[in-house]
Order: sequence, then structure tokens, then C-alpha cells
Amino acid sequence: MNAKVNISNRAGASFPVRRMDFEFGEVARYWAGDDAGLTHFMTALSALFPEGEQFFVDSTRAVRKNPKLSDPDLQREISAFIGQEAMHSKEHLAFNSSAQAYGYDVRTMENQTAKVIKTGTKVVAQLLKPFGFSKEMIDLTGTCALEHFTAVIASELLQNKHVQAIFNNKTMYQLWMWHAIEENEHKAVVFDVYTAMYGRGLKAYGMRATAMILAMTLIFITQSYFTAQLMKTDRKLTLKDSKYMLKFMYGRKGFITRQIPELLDFFRPNFHPNDSNTDQLLADWKLKLGF
Ligand SMILES: [Fe+2]
Ligand SMILES: [Fe+2]
Repeated sequence: MNAKVNISNRAGASFPVRRMDFEFGEVARYWAGDDAGLTHFMTALSALFPEGEQFFVDSTRAVRKNPKLSDPDLQREISAFIGQEAMHSKEHLAFNSSAQAYGYDVRTMENQTAKVIKTGTKVVAQLLKPFGFSKEMIDLTGTCALEHFTAVIASELLQNKHVQAIFNNKTMYQLWMWHAIEENEHKAVVFDVYTAMYGRGLKAYGMRATAMILAMTLIFITQSYFTAQLMKTDRKLTLKDSKYMLKFMYGRKGFITRQIPELLDFFRPNFHPNDSNTDQLLADWKLKLGF
């Protein structure tokens, strides 16, 4: 590990907060698979993280004092969850700034992400206000759905050697694998908060299922737009230059395609994030990264 790691578990949760400090100065222009398409696809994902993860933190913070969440164990998990997500925001922000040096305007994409989140949640909250839904509910439900999305990407990253092989830079490899480990460690926290707040009835199910459909649609549009913008910066927004990435991501056994069954698992009425056991996978990876 060439980043400074400072592991602390002040909250006493089931997982720690690792304070990272990656150096992105040496990252090559095309750090993923030596390919513009793959690199820009991953950078477009990274552009979503600083504002996206800040939204997760804010949504959870907004409800954490609710008496329904008074269980001290859950409070400890919430604290560690907030700590981990804040760290992810910080490190992806640092990477995104380093991409700026190559002429990629990721800063604008971060601002656009903030706008999409703000407008999306505001519109839904306004539409559903007459039916007794609050902004707080909309935000937490969105976070609950998106946390499943990040946990699924993460477990695919931890399992798919083909994807792990695309990182031709050690720092980028460590950034993504560290993030993936932690997304798996805290994958159940927001779901448990959500269940404690809204229960497991039909209404709670309908809310989270709808949120998942909306969130996936918005992410797909936004992330594809960012990827296209980055390709355009390099004058590579052509089928010829995008072909490898499209096949790698959306082909029959593509990185994204392979995640579909696990993503859909969220629509099972009695779904819980811990239904898919990633304990051994996590243990192996923590050892590998020296955590
Ligand atoms: Fe995260
Ligand atoms: Fe997360």
C-alpha cells in the first residue's frame, strides 16, 4: 500500500474507518486498460462519488436522531458508515482533481451530479408531498437504493479478476479496491436504518423499489453523459474508440451486465443486503491490501 493508512474504530462499530491519503500525481492519462474508453467510464463513475456520497451522509445524518434509531449498535454502525463515506468523497475528489490536469473537466461533472441529486429529490418530494412523503423520506430511500448499487459494483470488483486487471496503476488499483472493500463492509447500514424507520411493509417496499428504478435511470443517463463528455475532450467520441469499453462494460459477460441479477435482487420483498455473504471475500481482500 503506497497510501498513508490510518485505521481507527472510535465508534466501536463492526467495521473501522480507514483514513487514506492517496497520491495521484503519477497516474497516467489512460490508467484503465491503457484505453480511453475504459478510463473515462471509470472516471465518469468517480465523478459521481464526491457529491453522491455526501448525499448519502447527509440523508443518514438527517434521520439519525430519530427515536426509532436509538439502538446503540445501530448508532455505532451509522457513525462508522459516515466516516467511511466521507473518506471516499475526499479521495475521489482528490483523484478527480488530478484528472483535471489532463484537461478533463471533472469538477463541472461533480457540480452537475449535485444538481441532478438536488433536482431529482426535490421533484420527487414535491410530487409525493400530498401523499404524506417528506423530503427526508425521499432522501433516505434514494440512499438505501444507491447503497445497494454501490455494494453490487463493489462485490463485482472484488470478484472479477478480468476487471481487477485493467488497473495499470497501483494507486488507482488501491483506491478502487479499498473503496470496494468498505462498500461491502457497510452495505447493510442504510438498509437497516431504512427498515428501522419505515418497517418492512408494502409501503416501504414500494418506496425502495421505485427509488431503485429512478436512481438507476438517473445514474445511467448521467454517467453515460459524463463518459461521452470525457471521450469528446479527447476527440474520441466515436464507435471505433468506444467499442472496447462498450463490450467490456455492457457485453454478454460485461462488468455491468454481470451485475444485473444481483441488482435485481433488491426487488425481492424480503431482501436484505447480508443475504449475499461476502465475509470470506472481504477477509481475503483485507489481507491482500494489508488492512
Ligand atoms: Fe463509498
Ligand atoms: Fe456506501
